[in-house]
Amino acid sequence: MASLRTNERKTLMALHELGGKATIEKIAEKSGLAHAAVMRATLTLSTENYVKIHEQKRNIAKLSREGENYAESGLPERRLLRALLNLGGEADVEEAAHRSNLDAGLVPIALGWLKKKNWGSIQGQRCCLKVNVEPQSGSDEKLLTLIHEKGVVAVEQLDQQFNEALTSLRKRKLVEIEEKVSRELELTEKGWKTIKKGFKIVEEITQLTPELIITKQWKNVKLTKFDVTAPGPAVYPGKAHPLQQIIRRAREIFLEMGFTEIRGPVVETAFWNFDALFQPQDHPAREMMDTFYLANPKTGRLPKEKLVNAVAKTHENGWVTGSKGWGYSWSSEEAKRLVLRTHTTAETIKYLATHKKPPIKVFSVDRVYRNEQVTYKNIAEFHQIEGIVVDRKVTLRDLMGTLKTFYTKFGLEKIEFWPCYFPYTEPSAQAMVYHPKLKRWMELCGMGMFRPEVLAPMGIKYPVLAWGGGLERLAMIELGLDDIRMLYGNNLGWLRRTPLCQ
Ligand code: PHE
Repeated sequence: MASLRTNERKTLMALHELGGKATIEKIAEKSGLAHAAVMRATLTLSTENYVKIHEQKRNIAKLSREGENYAESGLPERRLLRALLNLGGEADVEEAAHRSNLDAGLVPIALGWLKKKNWGSIQGQRCCLKVNVEPQSGSDEKLLTLIHEKGVVAVEQLDQQFNEALTSLRKRKLVEIEEKVSRELELTEKGWKTIKKGFKIVEEITQLTPELIITKQWKNVKLTKFDVTAPGPAVYPGKAHPLQQIIRRAREIFLEMGFTEIRGPVVETAFWNFDALFQPQDHPAREMMDTFYLANPKTGRLPKEKLVNAVAKTHENGWVTGSKGWGYSWSSEEAKRLVLRTHTTAETIKYLATHKKPPIKVFSVDRVYRNEQVTYKNIAEFHQIEGIVVDRKVTLRDLMGTLKTFYTKFGLEKIEFWPCYFPYTEPSAQAMVYHPKLKRWMELCGMGMFRPEVLAPMGIKYPVLAWGGGLERLAMIELGLDDIRMLYGNNLGWLRRTPLCQ
């Protein structure tokens, strides 16, 4: 008892005054509390067994806006009928419509029902009544008036005749049915006993104000106790898309680690996307089925001739790099072709062509495109996270350490580096992460140290650590998704359920 709050006490009192059994509405009226407040109080009162709740589902009929209008001015057919009676029982449709003051849209409806109710007939442009005196209200009209007068009517209480009228009025969209749950409270034995013992109602304060504190009034008032463990209502405020949040997180981590962001256009020449990275011109990744080539314009401009020549020679015979090259005749036409960049490494190498002095730590988080069949694990347009470190004495160990730090900041723990191959790095590796839910190793990114064949034409004299990998993979692990398409499907339910803080 001592634990009951003011509204609960008020509810109990009102219920008692109403004879121990009453609906929520009646209690609200009696106690002066809002309906929602009585509902809330009722929850506690019933869990603590002061009251019992009897729920009853009822179907309630009420008028639609149109129904309200007709209830006041009469059904359109009734209005047309009156106009025709005044015109002597027969008139041009147009004239009758005019006299009845009906909106143009309602005339066909009025005519239709006039015929259906057998009050009149239409011959050509003429409308003739079949009755000489005004017929009495039909059951549809009676029901319309009844609901209008009462506000709402319980469907279960209607008799057979009104039931048919109801069907007709619903078809005409003049009446709407709503399911209502009505709740009736009843005092339990515990409730009765508590009231017999008697209790006081002390107003409670729900909000502690500065005034209460300054004047020390807080000592005298009764503050409402809140159950901070009770579940609150779910709210779905606007928020950044989960993928966007992960992009932001990736940026933040790079910035925390002292990197600077670089960005470039999504349309690049094959030169930057492939050639500058020592990918031979017949490399399978360059094929149409892997790469999107632009149809219009087809080609772009190549950089300075000196750089282009160096790249060309390196491809053909290794140039000054000590490599034998790929041993084919390099085509500048092929290098000019425009592509949607297939990796952000295109931006990395372009940046290196103009920034040669160490130390360099740059990154990008950006869109890339591959001509892939869209499946649960592949999409044609996605994001890559990419970074490079250039310094006088950096090694593969530094690269592994940097990556480990980066992914650990993302919350990934079990990371390993497995050997692999890229045309532009040596040694090359891939960072793998163990997915505890899927119980398997997943590739996170490719990595390695740029080959002399890549560095020499750019004029870079220091080791370059580079890595790049898919962002969506990371997002899938973070968000526990098994279908990559979810990230782009705008599934509202999923977007709402995904918490803002992972
Ligand atoms: N560009 C490679 C990819 O798209 C990743 C990579 C970047 C590998 C840099 C090595 C060095 O998969």
